[in-house]
Amino acid sequence: MSAAAETAPKRVHGSHQPIYVRQMDFDFPQGIDPVVVEGDPEQSYLMIGLSLLLPYLEPYLIRTMKEAKKHINDPHLRDDLERFSAQEGQHYKQHIKLNEALNLEAFPKLPEMEAKLDADYRRFSKEKSLRFNLAYAEGFEALTTASARFTFERGATAGTHPAVAALYNWHLVEELEHRTVAFDIYDDIYGGYWHRLVFGLYAQWHMGSFIYNVTKHMLEADPDAVERCGGAEGKKARQRAEWPQIRKLFLPKLLKTYSPRYTPHDIPFEHDLEMMAGELNEAARSFR
Ligand SMILES: [Fe+2]
Ligand SMILES: [Fe+2]
Repeated sequence: MSAAAETAPKRVHGSHQPIYVRQMDFDFPQGIDPVVVEGDPEQSYLMIGLSLLLPYLEPYLIRTMKEAKKHINDPHLRDDLERFSAQEGQHYKQHIKLNEALNLEAFPKLPEMEAKLDADYRRFSKEKSLRFNLAYAEGFEALTTASARFTFERGATAGTHPAVAALYNWHLVEELEHRTVAFDIYDDIYGGYWHRLVFGLYAQWHMGSFIYNVTKHMLEADPDAVERCGGAEGKKARQRAEWPQIRKLFLPKLLKTYSPRYTPHDIPFEHDLEMMAGELNEAARSFR
């Protein structure tokens, strides 16, 4: 029996694989060029937009789960909730390390955008209902589940700065490990398809707007990056190459999450992912 199997956390609510809480030792060199995906500033800035979002979003998810825990009696679901929050707590701390290592001096509007996002999430925790906040959490989790599956399917971290790729690979594996948790907690306390759909869509619009605005600002503030990568023609060629993959591999996964029959329990945690999860356990400073 492997070390990972021996220490596998107990399961569980429905059927899913263990949710491991790993302490990772990522090392980010200072002054990382923001074009983190070679030859692709648009994809790079999108990944940076997501990385800038997470230190505000993930603490908000943790605050939401802390509130939700008061209403959860099932011991397995409480264990899931604790592991979910522990994983998210590790994620945003590592993303802060990356964000601090990136050379973002050329982008003066980023601090203002982050401050507004921070204020939004603090307001949601203070003023919005727990039901809204849980539907928001599930909107994010459904989107990251679809995105993580898409990313691994097309091998999209190829050509990415190795430290950034390592961070995203770890994060996306853990997003898939805990893909059922926000859904189950929303379902256990409230349930209700239409509310989940409407406020999940709102969440995706809210997060997507931030990432879109970051990407747009970065492209505008440093037009040389696009010039170095083939100019307008290069940008069009990248879009033409990417769109068929998005249409075939990503959109169907995302659209399924909008169905009343959607449940993340139907999404398998495939063999490749189990292998990656095992490798992450080996690489981690510790895991439980
Ligand atoms: Fe996360
Ligand atoms: Fe998550």
